[in-house]
Amino acid sequence: MRERPHRYRRHASIESVLEELGCNGLFSAEGAAWAPQRKLLMHSLSIPHIKAFYPSLKATTERLYPRWQRAAAHGNVVEMTDDLKRYTVDVTSALAFGEDPRTLKKHRGVIQEHLALIFPMLTNRINAPFPYWRYVKLPRDCELDRSLIEAHGYVRNMMSRARERMRDDPSELPSHLLEAMLVMRDAPESDVTDDQVAANVLTLLLAGEDTTANSVAWTLLNVAADSALQQRLFDSSRGVLGSAPVCPDFTSLKQLDLPEAVCTETGRLCPVVAINSFEPLEDVCLDDITLPVGTKMFFLNRAATLDARNFSNPLQFDPDRWLHDGSRPRTTHDSRAYRQFGAGPRVCPGRHLAAVEMRLALSMLMANFSIRMAVNPSTIREMNAFTMVLSAMPVHLSARTT
Ligand code: HEM
Repeated sequence: MRERPHRYRRHASIESVLEELGCNGLFSAEGAAWAPQRKLLMHSLSIPHIKAFYPSLKATTERLYPRWQRAAAHGNVVEMTDDLKRYTVDVTSALAFGEDPRTLKKHRGVIQEHLALIFPMLTNRINAPFPYWRYVKLPRDCELDRSLIEAHGYVRNMMSRARERMRDDPSELPSHLLEAMLVMRDAPESDVTDDQVAANVLTLLLAGEDTTANSVAWTLLNVAADSALQQRLFDSSRGVLGSAPVCPDFTSLKQLDLPEAVCTETGRLCPVVAINSFEPLEDVCLDDITLPVGTKMFFLNRAATLDARNFSNPLQFDPDRWLHDGSRPRTTHDSRAYRQFGAGPRVCPGRHLAAVEMRLALSMLMANFSIRMAVNPSTIREMNAFTMVLSAMPVHLSARTT
């Protein structure tokens, strides 16, 4: 993982498939194209930027509250994966593109409907034995084409609006990633194209949506079945939130360790990124095994996190193993074996944002509601749709004050 992008790359099919879909941004960029894009995106996802953006993050989290209050009052089932995807898209768009699509306030016709089709088709095409869609289009390929037209139209409109805002106030410095990319694009003799800007907007929308939303949704399987844990989450979240529905400021977030530990422990058992892929760019030798250039390699995250040499009682769901508060004897705990965000130069640049979103969303849910599953948990399936996602996460909510 450390020897990227010079000695290893992601599977070559990832870049070619994403290029064809107009989404060849930071995730799939390789070689010399990778570093400048990485630098640009890192800034907009850095901790100081997220801290400055906190009021907007809080406002987006507050939108979930009346939505869930209504569902609790009427006894309606909440499909958590949908609500959380709306949440993560609203957050990523406002932070990185300076536009809040307020999908949490809308009924239908939201961008998520199209992103939801793109992700599973990526997996299909990346793993296809040959690019059949160049010769014959199946109904799912036609559907993908329609979703891509919608998603690209959405992104191009957002780019035009950002350009208009910049024209109206040329003295302002870029205040978010999209403006920074457009400044680079429009500079004299720039070699950045509109297509590259659009590809990175789509990359962030895709990378920030399903991953974080499903990470929080997976936790609910464990939380719903454990009333003692719900009580602990209520007590610790209420202690930080006071009488507010949502964590009031960025500094207080640091005290919300239990909600993040619950998400991290869930990710150890049910990782949303279960597989990382690599391909050597030259012949390499690993543990006496020679791998020729271009060998397809898979790094299975769960093998290491379920190994008792790295984590004691590895099959047990135990969020406290991440808290290290000294209240119980130290057991085997090698956090280096947990590679949910990857590692090395290509480690996930959205991990700080994801951690903040997890703390905010789960603490808000647990401080205000108790939850129970609306279906038998055994009917919920794990599906590989580029990330490991849940087939559904329907829950009943009840308002709680104690
Ligand atoms: C729980 C949530 C998330 C998980 C588990 C996750 C996981 C990952 C993983 C495993 C990688 C590959 C790392 C590697 O190759 O070493 C990655 C890359 C990436 N992630 Fe995330 N991610 C999450 C959230 C986000 C968010 C919120 C964003 C942005 C809004 C984001 C943007 C990206 C980008 C742009 C890359 C490509 C980085 C590169 O190749 O240089 N991710 N993520």
